[in-house]
Amino acid sequence: MKTYRVAVIPGDGTGPEVIREGRKVLDAVSSRCGLKLDFHEYDFGGSRYLRTGETLPDGAIDELRGYDAIYLGAIGHPDVKPGILEKGILLRLRFELDQYINLRPVKLYPGVDCPLKNKKPEDIDFVVVRENTEGLYAGAGGVLRKGTPDEVAIQESINTRKGVERCIRFAFEYCRKRNKARKLTLCGKTNVLTYAFDLWERVFYDVAKEYPDVAVDYAHVDAMTMWFVKNPEWFDVIVTDNMFGDIITDLGAMIQGGMGIAAGGNINPDGVSMFEPIGGSAPKYTGKNVVNPLAAICAGGMMLEYLGEQKAAELVESAVIEVTGKHLKSLAAGKMGYGTSEVGDLVARYATELPVD
Ligand code: IPM
Ligand code: MN
Repeated sequence: MKTYRVAVIPGDGTGPEVIREGRKVLDAVSSRCGLKLDFHEYDFGGSRYLRTGETLPDGAIDELRGYDAIYLGAIGHPDVKPGILEKGILLRLRFELDQYINLRPVKLYPGVDCPLKNKKPEDIDFVVVRENTEGLYAGAGGVLRKGTPDEVAIQESINTRKGVERCIRFAFEYCRKRNKARKLTLCGKTNVLTYAFDLWERVFYDVAKEYPDVAVDYAHVDAMTMWFVKNPEWFDVIVTDNMFGDIITDLGAMIQGGMGIAAGGNINPDGVSMFEPIGGSAPKYTGKNVVNPLAAICAGGMMLEYLGEQKAAELVESAVIEVTGKHLKSLAAGKMGYGTSEVGDLVARYATELPVD
């Protein structure tokens, strides 16, 4: 039997609740598909930090490198100053494990209430390839004369030829493999950010020459937010930098029905990748059994796909579609008509009962 070693970081807030449901579904699917997921839990997160003062202990990163994948719940604690856990855990994992792609599918499933008038599942089905190790997230810059009237704060966007090119290449390859509209759109701001996005644009059109079968397009990020609402059907695959990718994927999550269903993968094609619901720790819903576990479940599906277990991944998606199509009243926390664990039970049941070919 094919066995995969998976590190699990349930993390903070509702992370542990949704990861529990994700594991339930992954277990159901694994036994159907003849594979085994060997889970090892790590307690990294806000509670551990408050207890020990440590975000990631020494050696943690190297230990995580030894896994086939990482399954993450959420990082962020109301009693910890913003930035400490995000930078100390989530971003550090992304950077040090060189997960240079943040892959975020935006797909409206049948039965899901879309806030956009007259948009159907066939209109909303695209993927954002977000650069995940550079840009404004790189931490370059600094502050002078802090707290004085002469304070200076500088936060620079770092864009390397190598970093931009590997992201764009990944996007072209992904677009070709996805084989849907075979259209890749670069999202930037070439009219203002004339250094950074000049580099992105040149690399984009250079690399495009190697992919004559992929149609290319460009949109400024501000216009992009407009098209997401007006004409989401235009998009197949979008590639963009770290900050713009962060922003447009929250909008993407909303048009696919909300944070309750939005999943993402932090991908290192040559190393260990990490899969997570993109919604965060939702402290106000913690421990109430009301938050939607579908995003975590879908992240588990992405993990299976990335492990090369296509059938198992499709089974997760089919089971999720049964549940959104036939059961849930809404995807919003507390409004699903079911509790967190009941939604997990439903998906796991379909994953057990649906045919696998
Ligand atoms: C995300 C989150 C993170 C980000 C935060 C928590 C650091 O918003 O995964 O989109 O900005 O990347
Ligand atoms: Mn975000």
